[in-house]
Amino acid sequence: MFIDPSVNMKPDPLLYSPFKALVVPRPIGWITTISSDGVINLAPFSFFNGVTDDPPCIMYCPNGSHRDGGPKDSLKNVQDTGEFVFNLCNWDLREKMNLTAEHMPSNIDEMKAVGLEAAACKFINPPRVAAAPASFECRYIKTVDLPIGSTGRESHVVLGEVIGIHIDDSVIVDGIIDIGLLRPVARLGYMDYAVIDKSFTMMRPD
Ligand SMILES: Cc1cc2nc3c(=O)[nH]c(=O)nc-3n(C[C@H](O)[C@H](O)[C@H](O)COP(=O)(O)O)c2cc1C
Repeated sequence: MFIDPSVNMKPDPLLYSPFKALVVPRPIGWITTISSDGVINLAPFSFFNGVTDDPPCIMYCPNGSHRDGGPKDSLKNVQDTGEFVFNLCNWDLREKMNLTAEHMPSNIDEMKAVGLEAAACKFINPPRVAAAPASFECRYIKTVDLPIGSTGRESHVVLGEVIGIHIDDSVIVDGIIDIGLLRPVARLGYMDYAVIDKSFTMMRPD
């Protein structure tokens, strides 16, 4: 079949738009920001990835708006303060990560609300998730505004430079990150997730 997104994203026999089920698996950027009043926000973003490694840069996409109107806290806070943290969500943290997707009022500390311990960052103010096996301290670069959606929804790409990397030493074996110990959780389509705990190796031709 062929889909023209400007006409219909779920032509027969599709029940839902297949887009997110085809861009898989998506790593989850579990993003901490802090408001200019000092309120901690934590939220998962599966439109997330690394974009280059020298200097290391990442992006996440706060799309749509806050339930109380205006931009999502993860967009407003990063634009107000210029800092954010990427926390890696592993298998053990999957349920807490899901809880932080709840649309909470902007004055609620979302780490405290879901019972997660915060750990201080070295260079920036937002805290990291203490239990995360890795966290990146990031300095905001810029926001790229994407085309407005068919329902009037705004979408944004937030870009940041990684200025500090925390790794739990227990996931480092013989000098490399052991994926079987890291066990990152990734987003698939619909309400589905994957946990990555197996990998295979292939050398490049040159
Ligand atoms: C696994 C997962 C991935 C998500 N990915 C995104 C995403 O890429 N973009 C987005 O805008 N919302 C995404 N959400 C929803 C946000 O986490 C949710 O709207 C959150 O409350 C962000 O709002 P806040 O920044 O105001 O806290 C995702 C939710 C889950 C559970």
